[in-house]
Amino acid sequence: MVYGVVLAGGIGSRMGNVDRPKQYLHIGKKPIIVHTVEKFIINDNFEKVIVLCPAQWITYTKDLFRKHLPENSNVVVIEGGKDRNGTIMNAIRYIEETDGLNEETSLVTHDAVRPFVTHRILEENVESVRKGIACDTVIPATDTIVESVDGETIASIPNRANYYQGQTPQSFRAKRFKDLYETLSEDERKILTDAAKVFVVKGDKVALIKGETFNIKVTYPYDLQLAETLLGGEK
Ligand code: CTP
Repeated sequence: MVYGVVLAGGIGSRMGNVDRPKQYLHIGKKPIIVHTVEKFIINDNFEKVIVLCPAQWITYTKDLFRKHLPENSNVVVIEGGKDRNGTIMNAIRYIEETDGLNEETSLVTHDAVRPFVTHRILEENVESVRKGIACDTVIPATDTIVESVDGETIASIPNRANYYQGQTPQSFRAKRFKDLYETLSEDERKILTDAAKVFVVKGDKVALIKGETFNIKVTYPYDLQLAETLLGGEK
């Protein structure tokens, strides 16, 4: 079984002075999180779409979905965790308690604040994870990458052709993630906030899926303007 897991447990501190976490801000006529979840519910690969948000926003999120999504949408809303991987672990615990977890149970995890994910990207993630291969969605780095350790001088300038920018979805088998996550110390958990990185540092293969430059993550106020433009003003 493949689950869509929409990560909305953050508060969007880099968005500055707004009255709600950024995933609830509007682009076009709908909140960002609604645009994102719509991409999942029109894809019939997903057994269920699990949306994880801060505890105090659960009722609000359910109300939003009641208002904007078709009535029988297979979407559940539960509480996120204190960091991104903690949020993923809450999704895994939920599956364990409701449907049960087996070796094949797979997750396509996606940032709630990337509303422009495409059908192709979701399909390619599902295809990889169905074969048991974890994957991460990326685009080639466009700017030259400059490494600095002290923040003042350049330590190295690696060959850009070998570098990519990570996007989401990131997809993997739930049980494998859980097993690896449980081997991490509290200190390691603080550093390894990226799910794909957990697999990489533990030596598991992670395949690359081609992302899109427009599959942006809404992070700063500027990104909201960009998102409006990408939406084309119609929806
Ligand atoms: N996220 C999550 N659970 C957390 C923290 C983040 O599900 N405990 C989600 C966010 O809601 C977001 C995605 O992970 O959809 C990407 O993270 P980021 O852009 O860093 O979101 P925030 O943590 O909300 O933003 P900021 O870092 O500016 O506070």
